[in-house]
Amino acid sequence: MTEIDTSVPHSARIWNYWLGGKDNYPVDELAGDAYTAVFPGIVTIARSSRAFLGRSIRYLVQEAGVRQFLDVGTGLPTVDNTHEVAQSLAPESKIVYVDNDPLVLAHARALLTSTPEGATAYEDISLFEPEQILRAAAKTLDLTRPTALILSGILGHVADYDGARAIVRRLLEGLPSGSYLCVNDGSRGTDPDYEQAQDAYNETGAVPYFLRPVDRIAAFFDGLDLVDPGVVSVPLWRPDGTAPAPAPIGQHGGLARKP
Ligand SMILES: C[S@@+](CC[C@H](N)C(=O)[O-])C[C@H]1O[C@@H](n2cnc3c(N)ncnc32)[C@H](O)[C@@H]1O
Repeated sequence: MTEIDTSVPHSARIWNYWLGGKDNYPVDELAGDAYTAVFPGIVTIARSSRAFLGRSIRYLVQEAGVRQFLDVGTGLPTVDNTHEVAQSLAPESKIVYVDNDPLVLAHARALLTSTPEGATAYEDISLFEPEQILRAAAKTLDLTRPTALILSGILGHVADYDGARAIVRRLLEGLPSGSYLCVNDGSRGTDPDYEQAQDAYNETGAVPYFLRPVDRIAAFFDGLDLVDPGVVSVPLWRPDGTAPAPAPIGQHGGLARKP
């Protein structure tokens, strides 16, 4: 296992810091504060992204009847983790979490609190190993049945756009018709301060994260049937009235069904 490196900031830990969590180190706090000094809107982005994830899972369980979830790039446990949302609505739901950050692995126990009827598993695998992810997921999920692939805030970590698309394609190939893809990622072209803060973050020695133009995020869904309203700024995706009037931000996402 890779050692936990506390000398450079880490995506999962900074995200946790912005979400109001405690599972982070001074180096993450410093990098997180340097970021918000340039672009305070990142805190809203982190929270809106999690809220989008929660609404998508509710849609998947209640409207699409999905009971299996493959959540790659899980992040540190926080409130409303995928299995908690899914199993609160359908206790028989099964969830496989995948991440490659050693600190996420160290905290994985908090994600393994399944209902007796359902199941949760955690796999320490990189997104760059889609075959291995599918093999590991098949230990817990029945991959002949519809499964939701969740890629929340992770595809921006894949610098090579074509490479990111190929990974998504390969993972979806392993899932049957009636499966879903849920993606949300930071977008370019909404606020120059966001782009400046992200460029500076990418110089810190952390695994870089690249903001993408919205059409590039939308193209991850090519060949799939998008659920209304398509790929939009995440607060505008099926708002449920729990937040104040939703305003567009630089985080775009959507949900689509594999035909
Ligand atoms: C911004 S966080 C998003 C966390 C969570 N999905 C959410 O939406 O709140 C990105 C996550 O992707 C993980 N990650 C980055 N590169 C990865 C890779 N190559 N393989 C697996 N996980 C990766 C990080 O460890 C981190 O937990």
